[in-house]
Amino acid sequence: MSLSKPHGGTLINRWNPDYKYDFIRNAIELDEMALSDLELIGTGAYSPLNGFLNEENYYSVLKNMRLSTGEPWTIPITLPITEEKAKAIKIGSLVKLMKDQSVYGVLEVSDIFTPDKEKEAEFVYQTTEREHPGVKKLFDRPNVYVGGTITLTKRLPTNQFSEYQFDPIQTRKEFQSLGWNTVVGFQTRNPVHRAHEYIQKSALEIVDGLFLNPLVGETKKDDIPADVRLKSYKVLLENYYSNDHVFLGVFSAAMRYAGPREAVFHAMVRKNFGCTHFIVGRDHAGVGNYYGTYDAQKIFSNFTQEELGITLLFFEHSFYCNKCGNMATPKTCPHDSSHHEILSGTKVREKLRNGETLPTTFSRPEVIEVLIAGLQKEAVQA
Ligand code: ADX
Repeated sequence: MSLSKPHGGTLINRWNPDYKYDFIRNAIELDEMALSDLELIGTGAYSPLNGFLNEENYYSVLKNMRLSTGEPWTIPITLPITEEKAKAIKIGSLVKLMKDQSVYGVLEVSDIFTPDKEKEAEFVYQTTEREHPGVKKLFDRPNVYVGGTITLTKRLPTNQFSEYQFDPIQTRKEFQSLGWNTVVGFQTRNPVHRAHEYIQKSALEIVDGLFLNPLVGETKKDDIPADVRLKSYKVLLENYYSNDHVFLGVFSAAMRYAGPREAVFHAMVRKNFGCTHFIVGRDHAGVGNYYGTYDAQKIFSNFTQEELGITLLFFEHSFYCNKCGNMATPKTCPHDSSHHEILSGTKVREKLRNGETLPTTFSRPEVIEVLIAGLQKEAVQA
């Protein structure tokens, strides 16, 4: 076996730091989400996308969960602009893509269109309720979309994660030099608790390496900040993982909270990073009670294995069972839930922010320590 082929067959590279854009007059100011999307398109993480979706692809993604060329693609990667800005832009023109006075890229405008956001919410999030953080974000962004091929001309400022920032071309090289033929990708927006560790290590028993790939882009306010999480990953890896079989790298996309649709998107992106396998556990990328516990697994039945090009590893809800004396799932544990250590994400965050510790059967002590310290510092600064 060898590393996965990129989605669509070729790793897209739209990075050109020598691109001359001084003659371009028009500019679009990007928000955080669009800026991270621009970089991920430019470096090939979103292959086969080579730009922000045009109208045809947008509706194809909404209705068919595929690009118009047929490849599975479930999340519309769009560039929203105001109606006023749209009037100043012509189809066929070049536009600079800016953030805080810096040019990060250039867009070759192919389409300007007004999306049907109610439909987008229904298709992508399965709800139009504005309380859903992904739906709220969708409606908070401007109302016209501009599509077209991009060129990435400047990389995002290196921040505290730079040591863990790798483009797909780099992760592919790293996995090869580690001698891995099979690599399982793990998406997370949370600290790694015992349940995560259990499914990662169960997966690791059948593949060569684990690509721990926490999302560090925009998340909702009450999620644990990425810098605190990163510290928790480091102590966990130092104390409980074999260095030869795990590789930590961050994923700079924004979280959409689109549950099943985001699970497919997450899998396709990890395939681009070279993963041959991808873990989907309970309520992947979910929020509140919007999605069924295993909907993010069931959605993959809409695609053939050949189309996906990555092997999915599905895990049931895992927990520590006090009676078994080990980690388990309903598949492996005969005891009722009164013996199981289960805490909701909200409860965990609430406890940690109050400086309360968590049972070591739920989280490793080193991880708890880092989280309490990080969240208390955050509270002092707030
Ligand atoms: S996510 O929004 O990034 O999916 P989280 O970081 O909590 O959230 O989950 C990371 C991965 O672990 C997802 O695939 C999720 O389904 C899985 N997962 C989280 N908790 C559990 C659990 N207790 N049992 C099984 N899988 C889990």
